[in-house]
Amino acid sequence: MSMDKPKVLVARKTFDDIVDRLRPHFEVECKEDEGAWSQSELIARLQGKAGVYITGTEKIDAALLDACPGLKLVASMAVGYNNVDVAACTARGVLLTNAPDVLTETTADFGFALMMATARRIAESEHFLRRGEWKQWGVTMFAGGDVHGATLGILGMGRIGQAIARRGALGFGMKVIYHNRSRLAPELEAPLGARWVEKDELLQQADHLVLVLPYSASSHHAIGAAELSKMKKTATLTNIARGGIVDDAALARALAAGTIAAAGLDVFEGEPSVHPELLKVPNVVLTPHIASASIPTRRAMASLAVDNLIAVLTGGKPVTPVNPEVLGER
Ligand code: DGY
Repeated sequence: MSMDKPKVLVARKTFDDIVDRLRPHFEVECKEDEGAWSQSELIARLQGKAGVYITGTEKIDAALLDACPGLKLVASMAVGYNNVDVAACTARGVLLTNAPDVLTETTADFGFALMMATARRIAESEHFLRRGEWKQWGVTMFAGGDVHGATLGILGMGRIGQAIARRGALGFGMKVIYHNRSRLAPELEAPLGARWVEKDELLQQADHLVLVLPYSASSHHAIGAAELSKMKKTATLTNIARGGIVDDAALARALAAGTIAAAGLDVFEGEPSVHPELLKVPNVVLTPHIASASIPTRRAMASLAVDNLIAVLTGGKPVTPVNPEVLGER
């Protein structure tokens, strides 16, 4: 008796050789061009599929899950999963897997680079040069703040936060303070000289504040007008976490008013749209959500999602489950 292979959908164009690893096990439908399907097309293409490979942008909500009752596994190549309604998945026995760890160092590299570019006004001065406005060398021309020896503030001290702290403390002699729901164990704090502080102290003391916390209802607008007003006028803010953690309208106003010196943003509320006022202020470095975008890391993220699809849908254990409790119900 011939057994039909389970069907999986790869909802984003990704590395062909990595997708090919799925083919011996599954009937694979793959998005062949860049960009995302509309929600209705995604739902239509998910009919009859047991698993779906997604990124951090496809919206997996209760309506989609109800419309796709055959779906057993959502395998995301992203570490963040605020685009997935985890409770709705769990309630329907759908497993979610994500891609932690493999992007930590690459994302920390980028966060540090964005913080440095922001502090040292690299993008702003490059735009000035390209516009042909550089007529002579100037003593204070594009003079920014120092990074070495400054106080690095980290909001959210998970794996990526710790990797950024390591770069700051060990590479640049920075003093590290952080705020997180839970304190790091002393053996993790000690080599970084990292000190847990209340959020207000973090805002007041940081020369360079980097946001690395997950997005949730409780972190929505964790940085708004009130928080920005507590920061030093010379401080920078870097967001590589998720749009929505910063109130982008309030930030644009604060940058224009000089409440803080500058910001570096890789993520935005409602991205790929960017708040129009942010596009007008010069003292902000804007990048299109690329913190994990090195080729080796994007390949590792894709590979981990494929490992999860193969493991789970061939009867094995997920590598990186988000809601492992659903497995007990099978
Ligand atoms: C992640 O993995 O969460 C990155 O932000 C890409 O979505």
